[in-house]
Amino acid sequence: MTTLTPVLTDTWDAERSWTLETYLAHDGYAALRKALTMTPADLVQTVKDSGLRGRGGAGFPTGMKWGFLPPDDGKPRYLVVNADESEPGTCKDIPLMMASPQHLVEGVAITSVAINCHHAFIYVRGEVLHVYRRLLAAVREAYDAGYLGKDILGSGFDLDVTVHAGAGAYICGEETALLDSLEGRRGQPRLKPPFPAVEGLYARPTVVNNVESIASVPAIVRLGADWFASMGVGRSTGHGLFSLSGHVTRPGQYEAPLGVTLRELLDMAGGVRAGHELKFWTPGGSSTPMFTSAHLDVPLDYESVGAAKSMLGTRALQLFDETTCVVRAVSRWTDFYAHESCGKCTPCREGTYWMKQVLRRIEAGGGADGDIDLLLDLCDNILGRAFCALGDGATSPVTSSIELFRDEYQAHIDGHGCPFDPAASALFE
Ligand code: NAI
Repeated sequence: MTTLTPVLTDTWDAERSWTLETYLAHDGYAALRKALTMTPADLVQTVKDSGLRGRGGAGFPTGMKWGFLPPDDGKPRYLVVNADESEPGTCKDIPLMMASPQHLVEGVAITSVAINCHHAFIYVRGEVLHVYRRLLAAVREAYDAGYLGKDILGSGFDLDVTVHAGAGAYICGEETALLDSLEGRRGQPRLKPPFPAVEGLYARPTVVNNVESIASVPAIVRLGADWFASMGVGRSTGHGLFSLSGHVTRPGQYEAPLGVTLRELLDMAGGVRAGHELKFWTPGGSSTPMFTSAHLDVPLDYESVGAAKSMLGTRALQLFDETTCVVRAVSRWTDFYAHESCGKCTPCREGTYWMKQVLRRIEAGGGADGDIDLLLDLCDNILGRAFCALGDGATSPVTSSIELFRDEYQAHIDGHGCPFDPAASALFE
């Protein structure tokens, strides 16, 4: 049976876990000291050898991304940490930054050495003021102790870190919209290529990495690529935070090797809420096609989840029991996508709006025969045609729920309303 692997979460239960003092008592900044004795090329190779893949959802190999930067021309190049976590159900980076922000700050310092960047940015979601404040305090502590700033640890390497709070837009988690926002413009995605690695912040080579990816780097440098690669399955190496929410006995963060199954995670989380059974769940946030209880044993690694026709995404496992109306859940998610669509491209702007209208009328009992196919047709006109991943993601809950629960949609249409009692699925009074 898989057990937990507390690496990022190792200090979460410690007293004042977020302080530099606590971090130092748990081998904090030993990795930075080691990194400063290594060449940038060796650092990049170590991360490549570890197999670490982007923990923000896409799973792109982190070391390979660093390696895409063009040869150093002595002009600025940047590291930007994407801390704009907003995918529905996704709630790992915020607890990580609250409980142990120095993991991230040390990761930022090491990554900056690896890519020879002297100014790094952490772009955090605007609504989470408490996280912004904690990051500011953590960065200040690191400056005061000589881990950031001029001549860090006497190495001759200078690094400034800016913590920037966004204004609360889901689209600003898309890396190029994030860069536009950071530059002071309205956040909307840019055309790719050029990828940020070639032309990113202020049109300079930029590495954009997720919080958990960067926070994973110190342990890789300290304990070695082989240690990290020994966990996980195949090309999905290492450990990750699995966030269980919804109808589960003990919701929360479970740090485990990739390849763990929901069945194993549920063993640790006390199972589905008492007296109920699992109906559907998302493996990686609402943008990933949903699973049912038939998928309890799918190993949660990139390849296995992909083979089961979904995506590992952000490992945001939202669990819903048999009291939940799938049409209602999908309708709520679609409201979110319609609200957050940035409006730049027509398929996403118009498509999410129309999906919202059709879903709402089905749920309210005004659905007509043909509405299910109309929804699928709308999805067809968004998927692969939107400017960025937001549009594609918005179609996932709709298409996957219709594939798995078409009868339930039809029952809403035939019965002129929702057969479920919303109070039965509510978690709070
Ligand atoms: P993507 O697959 O287009 O890119 C992934 C990363 O690899 C990017 O940083 C990109 O610049 C880089 N990359 C890809 N090909 C490259 C190349 N040829 N040269 C240089 N760099 C290259 O995915 P994207 O659009 O960045 O992210 C989509 C994912 O984001 C979804 O799968 C979803 O799971 C996740 N997501 C996460 C959210 C969160 O709150 N954490 C919110 C919404 C989506």
